[in-house]
Order: sequence, then C-alpha cells, then structure tokens
Amino acid sequence: MKEQGVLVTGGAGFIGSALVDLLMENKYTVLVLDDLSTGRMENLERWLDDDNFRFINGDIRHPLDGLLSPARMGSGPPISWIFHLAARVDVTSSFNDPRSDLEVNYLGTMNVLDHAVRSGVKKVVFTSSAAIYGDTSDLPIGESHPPEPLSPYGLHKLASERLIDIYHKQYNLRYTALRLFNVFGPRQDPSNQYSGVISKFMQKALGAEPLMIYGNGAQTRDFIYVGDVAEILVRAAGSSYNGPMNVATGTETSVNDLAAAVERISGKERKRVNLPERKGEIFRSVADVALLQEVLGMNETTDLREGLRETYRWMEKQR
Ligand SMILES: NC(=O)c1ccc[n+]([C@@H]2O[C@H](COP(=O)([O-])OP(=O)(O)OC[C@H]3O[C@@H](n4cnc5c(N)ncnc54)[C@H](O)[C@@H]3O)[C@@H](O)[C@H]2O)c1
Repeated sequence: MKEQGVLVTGGAGFIGSALVDLLMENKYTVLVLDDLSTGRMENLERWLDDDNFRFINGDIRHPLDGLLSPARMGSGPPISWIFHLAARVDVTSSFNDPRSDLEVNYLGTMNVLDHAVRSGVKKVVFTSSAAIYGDTSDLPIGESHPPEPLSPYGLHKLASERLIDIYHKQYNLRYTALRLFNVFGPRQDPSNQYSGVISKFMQKALGAEPLMIYGNGAQTRDFIYVGDVAEILVRAAGSSYNGPMNVATGTETSVNDLAAAVERISGKERKRVNLPERKGEIFRSVADVALLQEVLGMNETTDLREGLRETYRWMEKQR
C-alpha cells in the first residue's frame, strides 16, 4: 500500500471510475465522494471489498469537512491529492437550470478547495473543460487563447479555474486545471454531450439502425480515450505545474470519419441519416497539446481506432 491517500470527487462517474481503477491498480488508498446523481456504484464494483478503498455517498454542495469527518473516514493515510471531477456535465441543463449548475460546478468547487486548504492537501487536480473557450476559428486552441464560454456550464468551469488560481496565490495550494476536450470510452453514457456521438453510433450499429448525423457531418472534434485521461490526471497530480492545461490529442476527427470507423469496427455499413444542424454547435474543435507533451511527457495517446474497438467491445458486453 502506498502511504498516500487520494480523494476522487465524482469517482463513480465515467472518467472518475477509470481514474479510480488506475489509482487502485497502483496501490493508492482511494476515497470516493459521489452523490450518484449520474455516477453508478457498479462502476466501482471491483474495489468495494478492497481495504484501500472507501466510498462516501455525499453532495459537494455541502461543506466537505462534515462529509469527510474523521468519524466517517476511519483510519488511513491523510489525503494528499484531490482529484475534483464531480460536476453536472450536461450543457443543455446548465441553460435550463443555471442555478443548480452554479451550485454544483462553482460553489461545489469552492467547498472542495476550502477543505483542501484546511486539511493540508498538497495538490488539487480539477477537470475543467474545452467549453471555456467557446467557438473560435483560432485552431488549434492553445491555453492562452482568451476564454469566451457560451454556456453557464462553461462559465462556471472558468470561474472555478480562476478561483483555484486565487487559492493557489493566497494559500499556496498547488493545482492543475485540466481542460478536457472530448473524452470517450467504456462506461460512457450515450446521452453525454461530449462524446455521446461515439456511444450513440455504436448503439445504433449494434442494433443495425441508421446512424444519425447532425448537419453534413463535416464538424470536427478532438477525441481522447478515457484511459489516457486517467493517466494524465495522475501525472498532473505528481507534477509541479500550476495552471490550466489542454487534455486532447491534437487530432481533428470529423463526425463522418467517426461514422466510417464505427462501421468498420462493427463490420457492417449502416445507412446514414442527416438531421438539421444543431443550433449553437461548434463547427471545428482541436487543441494545441504542446503543454501536455512538454510538462507531462504525454507524447503518445491511444489510437482512435483502438479506443473505439475497446469501447465497442464494452458496449457489446453490456447488451
Ligand atoms: N466527458 C467529457 O468528455 C468531459 C469533457 C470536459 C470536461 N469533463 C469533466 O470531467 C468530469 C467528469 O465527467 P464525466 O464525463 O465522467 O461525467 P459523469 O457524469 O459520468 O461524472 C460526474 C460524477 O460527478 C457526480 N456528481 C455530480 N454532482 C455531484 C454532487 N453534487 N456531489 C457529488 N458528486 C456529484 C456524479 O454522480 C458522477 O459520478 C466533470 O467535471 C466534467 O465536467 C468531461
């Protein structure tokens, strides 16, 4: 056992549970705090009987000192890293209910930071988002690009980044704010707006249904495999870098190319149906990943086709 305790907020979710797998495989002592609003216990099933694993069902809208009181935590090494992933991830619902988005995504982050400062946590790794950039034609987008979020979700992620930076300067709290682009992989909910297109295509392909494409399918995204994101989160925790960092591959993939790749993997061509363009959809997205490569040495990421195959295998098993 590593004498290092780590807290993962949102650890029952899609990315959080992949991170928990990696941390547990590397013998960290892991505490997950999650309210199971979108996360699922079955994502953590593998670890429930492990002495190095603890789960607390709690809501980050409440101060963490109470949720993580010594009485609830029991024995174990003190927490030295916090991976803060818990969030409302749905951009559309951030328009429908901006207050709830603010409470979870901004005030929840404040609660996590207050706890980090009070309990002497060494580093916070926060999952920010490419949504802070808004729509831009300056591609690939670098970290110094002026942010212009277009949704309450993007705004609250940006405000959280700024708050962490203030805590860094004021209280010497070390942090990395990872601006995730489009993460995909096993355990992803098809309704996820980031890379839901991948699991949606796969669902359709498995069910021999037509693939639905918004607009002409030429819109692009920068897709990164969830296993790579878990690795990047751990590397970020161990690094001395404080600040924002893009998390992506630097490769643009169009929705049409994605459809073709899913067809190849499923072994069958599918009918494609083009739907009207979605209002407000960003047309092109691709990240400058120089910082990720220089600071974290993340020069290689999982090949898109390999990641898609893994995801397809997982979806097949779920059926
Ligand atoms: N999936 C992507 O492509 C992507 C892209 C950019 C940023 N992100 C960020 O990465 C993080 C993880 O996203 P994900 O895709 O795994 O989503 P997810 O919905 O699977 O995970 C979020 C987790 O947070 C938990 N949670 C939500 N509200 C909570 C609360 N009030 N208290 C405690 N737990 C709460 C949920 O139950 C869930 O387990 C989020 O911060 C998200 O904004 C994801």
